[in-house]
Amino acid sequence: MTDRTPVLVDCDTGVDDAMALLYLLHHDAVEVVGITSVFGNNTAAKCAHNSLRVLELMGRTDVPVAVGAENPLVGEVTYLATHVHGDDGLGDSGLPLEVSTPLSDLTAVDLIDELSQRYRGRLRLLAVGPLTNIAHALEAIPDLTERVVDIVIMGGAADVAGNQSAAAEANIIHDPEAARAVLGASWPTTLVPLDVTMTEIITEEHRTALAASSAPAAQFVAAVSDFYFGGYGFDSFGVRCSPCHDAVAAGVLTGDVVPSVFPRIAVEVDCTDGPSRGATICDTRGRYRAFPDQDGASCRVALVTDGTFADRLVAMLTSSTAGVIPR
Ligand code: BDR
Ligand code: CA
Repeated sequence: MTDRTPVLVDCDTGVDDAMALLYLLHHDAVEVVGITSVFGNNTAAKCAHNSLRVLELMGRTDVPVAVGAENPLVGEVTYLATHVHGDDGLGDSGLPLEVSTPLSDLTAVDLIDELSQRYRGRLRLLAVGPLTNIAHALEAIPDLTERVVDIVIMGGAADVAGNQSAAAEANIIHDPEAARAVLGASWPTTLVPLDVTMTEIITEEHRTALAASSAPAAQFVAAVSDFYFGGYGFDSFGVRCSPCHDAVAAGVLTGDVVPSVFPRIAVEVDCTDGPSRGATICDTRGRYRAFPDQDGASCRVALVTDGTFADRLVAMLTSSTAGVIPR
């Protein structure tokens, strides 16, 4: 057994999910022991395929990838974010799509069950897509909250605007009922919302450095993020760029990103059908008193980070010696 911390990543592999996976796969303190996929940026099936593309790039055929939910807890999926991540979910970059590694025979919930038993008391969860698989797992595995160390979630908007609606962030609005169940469960939870992920930006200069590198992981990120830079990044900031959303959450998990404002506060999810459906209502009233911990709150919310994560990510990927770029 390795000394590295085992991490299960639940994701909808998209562009920034791929950045998160590549960051973790290069990190010497963690071991990605499994990946479960969920609808969101694309179908769960395509997102699982994209996770295999990332793993094969790194020569990692040993990490199980299981397909999860194609629909939210309530109703059916209303949209997939192909306008942000491309029709293939990874920026329609022209890189080969084929993979040779098979998917796991297990469902996402069964893989979470198996890995949370195998790594009982050590496993950490990183959830960077809609929280549907995790909600199903909480239902199916009554002691899941005792088996894992914690869960780190990319999602929500505490004191800033949403990105899928004026009030709601994409991962949460895809399945507010699941988010409510996961954020309401009694386990140590870290929320990494748009408040910080929109301040951690990969610039066009970073992308140029990635593209010029001989490292396969760097070239891959440069290629798959081009579409994202020109679409979502440009629409958000008026310049070509990319918020590092999911990769920042991975950085918070490893401890490379240390939020300077990181209160333990109550978080509610709006599950009504009005204009604020999917909003994360974070109780930030303590801000004028240096954010004392709130009684009974198990969620820490990252509110401020220093904006340097992309420098670290680009340095890590451009100095990588692992992997083979698909041709
Ligand atoms: C989140 O939505 C998805 O499109 C991204 O992968 C990220 O997880 C950002 O709002
Ligand atoms: Ca994601």
